[in-house]
Amino acid sequence: MSAATPGPIAPHGGTLVNRLDDGLTEGGRPRVTLSARQQADLDLIAVGAFSPLEGFMDQATYESVITGMRLPSGLAWSVPVTLAVQPDELDAIGDATEVDMVDESGRFLGVIEVTDRYETDQRREAGLVYGTEEEAHPGVASLYAHGTTCIAGPVRVAARLPLDPGAVPFLLDPAASRAEFDSRGWRTVVGFQTRNPIHRAHEYITKVALETVDGLFLHPLVGETKSDDIPADVRMRCYEVLIEGYYPKERVVLGVLPAAMRYAGPREAVLHAILRQNYGCTHFIVGRDHAGVGNYYGTYDAHRVFDDITREELAIQPVFFEHSFWCNLTGGMATTKTSPSSPEQRVFLSGTKVREMLDRGEIPPVEFTRPEVAKILIEAYSTA
Ligand code: ADX
Repeated sequence: MSAATPGPIAPHGGTLVNRLDDGLTEGGRPRVTLSARQQADLDLIAVGAFSPLEGFMDQATYESVITGMRLPSGLAWSVPVTLAVQPDELDAIGDATEVDMVDESGRFLGVIEVTDRYETDQRREAGLVYGTEEEAHPGVASLYAHGTTCIAGPVRVAARLPLDPGAVPFLLDPAASRAEFDSRGWRTVVGFQTRNPIHRAHEYITKVALETVDGLFLHPLVGETKSDDIPADVRMRCYEVLIEGYYPKERVVLGVLPAAMRYAGPREAVLHAILRQNYGCTHFIVGRDHAGVGNYYGTYDAHRVFDDITREELAIQPVFFEHSFWCNLTGGMATTKTSPSSPEQRVFLSGTKVREMLDRGEIPPVEFTRPEVAKILIEAYSTA
């Protein structure tokens, strides 16, 4: 680890990348307009959450990632981080060596030094990365909505991703989360990814993991999600009441991840682990159908994907959990590893089920969610 990088584990690749440049101004260069997902990727590159990436991937890196789940250096990397350009902007870009990046309202975001440009085959990428070419898959639909010509190269970033106001106070960039873990004296930290309010199964697996490490980094993703996922500001209030009432506060740090969901299941589980290593976590929770959507992935595909990855290729340690449920026999949360109950004694929970109950105006039961969390969700849904 470089001496300057705080935290209990080295960043992926050894050095925490920083591509922020506050003084950068729009230079009258040709422009590329970034989608919400591309902007989130840019933000993650800027603050080093995507270390060792310093920019959008070139063709050799893209090929290496989609076919072999590795960067050309051999480090694990599972999902392409590319800058596809919409066809109507390609002519203006021509063979420019520097391009201004703007958001959909024209706000200047930063500059990309163009070192490569290439064509992608979206269907091939979808099949390799998402395991399906179907547009019904939200990650695949998003891929198809982008262009097929990519520009690549290192970036300098002037503007951060705008976040839901409820999430802003919890923005903790990798350098800051690492410093926070150090200040608490944590030598082992388990990261937890979620795009949902924390239900009882989440609480159970985070606490079981916390039994074996110094601290828990609750790290909800607050970039772009599916429209039926619960908004970030509502989720943040849920996390706060839960930590307040049910977790030992001195052993939990709450931060937000400004990433967009891709719903790439196993491949995204690896990406989520890489991100958390860069934020300073030594361990990362992977439960059932991590980052999955619909029936595209098997319940434990996101566990098996780590079988082929060595600790040299990815240092963070995944911590796997089986599908956990409320167990009426033992009167608590359990999995088949810890309870001999029969199937009819098990109440299976999921964020999707919570959303369905809220849609029907039903209060989720205590086996499902803590009453303080249920109250926030019900209020949010009744005013929606
Ligand atoms: S995700 O898209 O961020 O993976 P979600 O917020 O539902 O969705 O899950 C967060 C984490 O908790 C993931 O690691 C997921 O596998 C795990 N998880 C969710 N529900 C359960 C459950 N009932 N049992 C075990 N793990 C679960």
